[in-house]
Amino acid sequence: MGVVARTKYMSFTNQHIWLIGASTGIGAQLARDLAVAGAKLSLSSRDQTKLEALKSELKGDGHGVYPLDVTQQTSVDVAWVALNKAHGMPDMVIYNAGAYEPMSATRYDADTAIMVADTNFMGAFRVLEPVLPAFMARCQGHIVLTGSLAGMKGLPNAIGYGASKAGIIHLAENLRLDLAGSGIKVQLVNPGFVKTRLTDKNEFNMPFLLTPEDASARIMKGLLSDRFEINFPKRLTVLIKALRYMPDRLYYKLLRNKPAKN
Ligand SMILES: NC(=O)c1ccc[n+]([C@@H]2O[C@H](COP(=O)([O-])OP(=O)(O)OC[C@H]3O[C@@H](n4cnc5c(N)ncnc54)[C@H](OP(=O)(O)O)[C@@H]3O)[C@@H](O)[C@H]2O)c1
Repeated sequence: MGVVARTKYMSFTNQHIWLIGASTGIGAQLARDLAVAGAKLSLSSRDQTKLEALKSELKGDGHGVYPLDVTQQTSVDVAWVALNKAHGMPDMVIYNAGAYEPMSATRYDADTAIMVADTNFMGAFRVLEPVLPAFMARCQGHIVLTGSLAGMKGLPNAIGYGASKAGIIHLAENLRLDLAGSGIKVQLVNPGFVKTRLTDKNEFNMPFLLTPEDASARIMKGLLSDRFEINFPKRLTVLIKALRYMPDRLYYKLLRNKPAKN
């Protein structure tokens, strides 16, 4: 069997998955669903209390809690060492940590933009630091990065968030090219609007809003597929992709002068 074939899982049974950004929202629901599907989860985020509560409700045993802050390399490294010691090396790493503050250029705040970028984008570099060499040495592994449909094209009121998601999309594309044939599978999850504490900050009507349950089901299906991009929902994906390929003159005319929401 070739190295690539070994990474195509037919199911999640007994897969050890490091889920970063597990405490709430999409990540918490994904943890519940992966546990039902037989996965062994190492749960990470900053809030240990929430992670312990989540662990206690998960189906099956062999799950663990490894609090960390993705903005601190030492914190990531300590969690990596601890979870490897307790459960062995993960088969899959899902980078789902995220922060969001709606921000227009007219209400610019560097500290907020940097915090958002550090969480959504730079944190992935910190996680890859221990993960990539370990997966490469084993010629096997599965890396999943969470982007957003909002990262596919510059949108209004998205200073910080939009750039961070464009960055992580680009990073996933880099990894996919560099790791082709290495036995390491790379996937990119691009959700549309999902009802969580993150989108509760939006004051506008969110088209095609999904529940975390719906989002998790779509991610689960995508993780078992050969698709590189797991984009959902379909109608919003088509809309964003159409905007992406629209002539610039038309695009900037259509979207400019939208009133800032903050
Ligand atoms: N909801 C949407 O509509 C939507 C759309 C597109 C993409 N996404 C992406 O989907 C992912 C999950 O978002 P969500 O909507 O489920 O939001 P959420 O409920 O706020 O979840 C974000 C997760 O990231 C963790 N996190 C935040 N900062 C962290 C840090 N410094 N270190 C470690 N963990 C940290 C949070 O846990 P702690 O607070 O415990 O650290 C939480 O578990 C994010 O990457 C988000 O950008 C969401």
